[in-house]
Amino acid sequence: MKAAVLVRTGNPDKAYEIQERPMPKPQAHEAVIQVEAFGLNFADVMARRGLYPDAPPLPAVLGYDVVGRIHELGSDVKDLKVGQRVMALTRFGGYAEYAATDARGIAPIPEDTPVGEAVALATQYGTAWFCAREVTNLHEGEHVLIQAAAGGVGTALVQLAKHSGCTVYGTASTHKQDYLREMGVDHPIDYRTTDFYDAVKKIRGDKGLDVVFDSLGGKYLKNGYKLLGSGGRLVSYGAADMATGGRKSGLRMLRVAMGFGIYSPINFVSTSRSMLGVNMLRIADDRPDALKRTLNGVVDFYEKGILKPKVGGTFNVDQLAEAHDFLESRKSIGKIVVTW
Ligand SMILES: NC(=O)c1ccc[n+]([C@@H]2O[C@H](COP(=O)([O-])OP(=O)(O)OC[C@H]3O[C@@H](n4cnc5c(N)ncnc54)[C@H](OP(=O)(O)O)[C@@H]3O)[C@@H](O)[C@H]2O)c1
Repeated sequence: MKAAVLVRTGNPDKAYEIQERPMPKPQAHEAVIQVEAFGLNFADVMARRGLYPDAPPLPAVLGYDVVGRIHELGSDVKDLKVGQRVMALTRFGGYAEYAATDARGIAPIPEDTPVGEAVALATQYGTAWFCAREVTNLHEGEHVLIQAAAGGVGTALVQLAKHSGCTVYGTASTHKQDYLREMGVDHPIDYRTTDFYDAVKKIRGDKGLDVVFDSLGGKYLKNGYKLLGSGGRLVSYGAADMATGGRKSGLRMLRVAMGFGIYSPINFVSTSRSMLGVNMLRIADDRPDALKRTLNGVVDFYEKGILKPKVGGTFNVDQLAEAHDFLESRKSIGKIVVTW
């Protein structure tokens, strides 16, 4: 089978080679999927840039989400069928014609589901669901800030928060502001030209936010935490700010790391605010039942029309470098899909 292999870190045009690789064989708890399309995730950009500690050593096949048909089942897998159309969260290995993954990270999808929408459901909607419905519960009337709200996970969080009846503050680059409004974001904020902390303060005064979803890290997280009111929860699930400034820079990473700030449980108790961390790789590895619950929830809401993924770009595998460049350059809105 063919796979797009990350052979070196750096610019996307030199980073990948299409290579012949052995067919994956499923372990007892796994299934092998014949891949129709795979998705890009921001973690792939971080891995390609050498900024992602969880990435496998090179040469590596990246890829967190695929859509396709079940090709082969491991001996313990009883609830899936060969030929069934599915979406899946893969623990790497998705940039390939065939991918093996834990069956509990696979969810059947209707035959007529558009491939781009289906690809978005696994990792980005799965992450958003886990953040918004497992580690914290959104309640009607809550005021919620979503950073990078026009991205893949951001779009999913906006849809979940609006469904829960929340007032949504969403940040994004200038050219994505109309998209935020179209999605129903109550307070779109251009954080490239305005300080988001001041913008939220101006609207909300001293009442504070109930929930902040932070995918940027560093000073964004610290200022987001400062915006929380009593009972507020901050969910940290990314550090995209590490990618700012082009080439990998130790100084930049140190500055972002120091920007997070230092926290004490005493302060959490005395101010009744909390901070929660999410890493879907850890969930996929250690809490497969929670992952299954999450993916089932996502598919259920998708089928009911509550969740509607936005496909921001579809590329052929030959254009993988272009697709990566599009995501890294902050031009993209929603999900980026790559077909074989
Ligand atoms: N913890 C987990 O398990 C988990 C799982 C999935 C994703 N994530 C994280 O969730 C975030 C969103 O992931 P995604 O795949 O949905 O990507 P995405 O949001 O579609 O793309 C990333 C967006 O982040 C914003 N951004 C902010 N600073 C940036 C920078 N320095 N360089 C590039 N973009 C920057 C850009 O939006 P603007 O142009 O609007 O600023 C960009 O479009 C990422 O931080 C990712 O690592 C975490």
